[in-house]
Amino acid sequence: MRPLGRRMLILGIETSCDETAAAVVKDGKEILSNIISSQVDIHSRYGGVVPELACRNHIENLPLVIKQALDEAKTNMPALDSLAVTVGPGLIGALLIGVNTAKGIAYSLKKPLIPINHLEGHLLSIFLEDKHPEFPFVALIISGGHTDLYLVKDFMEYDVLGRTRDDAVGESFDKVARMLDLGYPGGPIIERTAKDGTSNDINFPRPMLVRGNFDFSFSGLKTSVRNFLANNEKEINKANVAAEFQEAVLDILSFKAFQAVENSGCKNLVVAGGVAANNFLRENLSKTAEKKKMNIFFPGHHLCTDNAAMIACAGYYRYTRKAKEQNGFMDYLELDAYANLKV
Ligand code: KG4
Ligand code: ZN
Repeated sequence: MRPLGRRMLILGIETSCDETAAAVVKDGKEILSNIISSQVDIHSRYGGVVPELACRNHIENLPLVIKQALDEAKTNMPALDSLAVTVGPGLIGALLIGVNTAKGIAYSLKKPLIPINHLEGHLLSIFLEDKHPEFPFVALIISGGHTDLYLVKDFMEYDVLGRTRDDAVGESFDKVARMLDLGYPGGPIIERTAKDGTSNDINFPRPMLVRGNFDFSFSGLKTSVRNFLANNEKEINKANVAAEFQEAVLDILSFKAFQAVENSGCKNLVVAGGVAANNFLRENLSKTAEKKKMNIFFPGHHLCTDNAAMIACAGYYRYTRKAKEQNGFMDYLELDAYANLKV
């Protein structure tokens, strides 16, 4: 096993959904390359991710993306110290392509392979930034598949405070965009569309705003958008619908997240995952944090949406803390992918 304390180069691989991604990260911090091949153009004509197409494209693209990540980092396979790969949660076929590619490379190089939960990648992505909190902190992970609140006590020490009981917040952005015929992925389009609208004339519900409860529900909000569109067919102002939907999302996330911070006794909130790339949410959550004298942290936009740098970063912390008990992460031939992996 490589002695700890020297510089450590990790190749991260991420294929859990529709981004084929590879990155080289030094010491869990310094991003030497972060390559993302997006399949958005392929899936957008179907209004969402088609798992079979995602798999085929990962197979085609992953070797090229890995090569590009190594080239851009001015390194090569033998110079790597280890690999980290997303093993779940996600589309099972898509995950398997990343996992099996990583196993093949690790085996041929006789290097450690660190299995990473995609959500742990989002949770730790803030450590790729210079500005990150001390432990403990509350983390709000908002993505296409998840809406989770965690108390992060240390690296690898996470308590789940709450999660969505139905739709994820990113999923509801995507579904509302689809109802409005705006295209896919919905998040960035809703954000752009909402800029020309006002939330004053529509009133969507803010479900589950109950003190002491950190779970979320977004399906009722989605249904009320659907009902509003059905009842006002002739006079729909898409920008206003988008603006009020986004405002409702902000109110829900803000209520839950800041309440969780108050309850935790710490002052720090990290917001990460694809939806955290939304500037309207970033600006308004930041204003509330300032009013409440709390500290709020967002990864840069490119580190919010799926990427492999966050996987390599999480790999670094897992390796440096767990290598001894995991036999140096060398027993990976049995490693598998898990569609529903929990943190
Ligand atoms: O983290 P991510 O890239 O993939 C998952 O792990 O799911 O998140 C993707 C989600 C999609 O639902 C997408 O619509 C949403 O993040 N998203 C946004 C924005 N950019 C991406 N949602 C709101 N505003 C954005 N600017
Ligand atoms: Zn993600």
